[in-house]
Amino acid sequence: MLTIPVMLDASPYEVLVGHGARHHLGPILRGLSTNSSTKVAIITEAAIVAAGWLSDVEIGLEHVVLTIPGGEAAKSLETVEHLCRQLVDAGMSRGDLLVGFGGGLVTDVAGFVAAIYHRGIRYVSVATTLLAQVDAAIGGKTAVNLPEGKNLVGAFWQPSAVLCDTETLTTLPPREWSCGRGEVAKYALLRGEGGRELLDLDLHEQVGACVADKAMVVVGDEREQGRRALLNYGHTLAHALETIDLEAGEQALGLRHGEAVAIGLLFAAELAFDLGRIEEPRVHEHRAILGGLDLDGHLPSGLSASHLVDLMRRDKKADHDLTFILDGPNGIEVVNGLDPTIVRSSLERMGATP
Ligand code: GLY
Repeated sequence: MLTIPVMLDASPYEVLVGHGARHHLGPILRGLSTNSSTKVAIITEAAIVAAGWLSDVEIGLEHVVLTIPGGEAAKSLETVEHLCRQLVDAGMSRGDLLVGFGGGLVTDVAGFVAAIYHRGIRYVSVATTLLAQVDAAIGGKTAVNLPEGKNLVGAFWQPSAVLCDTETLTTLPPREWSCGRGEVAKYALLRGEGGRELLDLDLHEQVGACVADKAMVVVGDEREQGRRALLNYGHTLAHALETIDLEAGEQALGLRHGEAVAIGLLFAAELAFDLGRIEEPRVHEHRAILGGLDLDGHLPSGLSASHLVDLMRRDKKADHDLTFILDGPNGIEVVNGLDPTIVRSSLERMGATP
């Protein structure tokens, strides 16, 4: 088992990575409990319960299991209200404990409920997908979507511990692997030279390395006043693509978060190239890292560049202009005030219509 400390001054915690890490949940919760009547509410999805990942975990405290539906539509304020009311029904008070047991959707929603229920209660995340293990469950960003966009309502609220159980990845569907690999590609690219070494690690070491990279950034900039924004590399276009999906209903592109990130990473390289910030070999490096993770980064056909640019102006990082995380002579950095004409033309070069 790997143990990676997240050494935040006010709320340090540990991330455990390894086969069967979920079995550490009971001892951790009992360590956090203030007395033997401490209650626990475990927020999860029916698929996690059906896979049996929860049934063999010994909690050792009075607990309830609350399931939320799978799928991005469940990441809503409606789900949060429903969960909070269930916590009231279960008699949960401020000293009690919450657990988010599942993928990034579950850990984001459970973390946000923990941040606001009784003005904040302690929670532990058990991350069961690659995406949650390498990114979503680490660092205390919690949020739900609005119909207007992804993660628009949320809070910084750090967990008391995170368990990344690589055993639960054995039942992960292929699309969920791609989803997590999009974020692994991001960490490899953020490393710059030597990024490809991340791809050669075995799974358990790869998850641990991504967690350690993220922990280092989060400890230096918990509230995203500076360097933490770099963890959004590839996410400006990704969030626009995901917003199209949220708005489209039946006509959705059906992209998973990490798949959208993969497209966003390649686009960020193409845009940086068009702006003269990087040379062709570095664009090639982006393609090679995505390819090494079985991701292609192609923009789905039929998307309008103008519509994508409008959506990207709404991005949380953008202060009413077009802001991207871009590679360049000084490495990867935040670049504000981009000319929409160049952004549109890079999108068109990737196959978007005007
Ligand atoms: N997923 C980006 C962050 O946690 O800052």
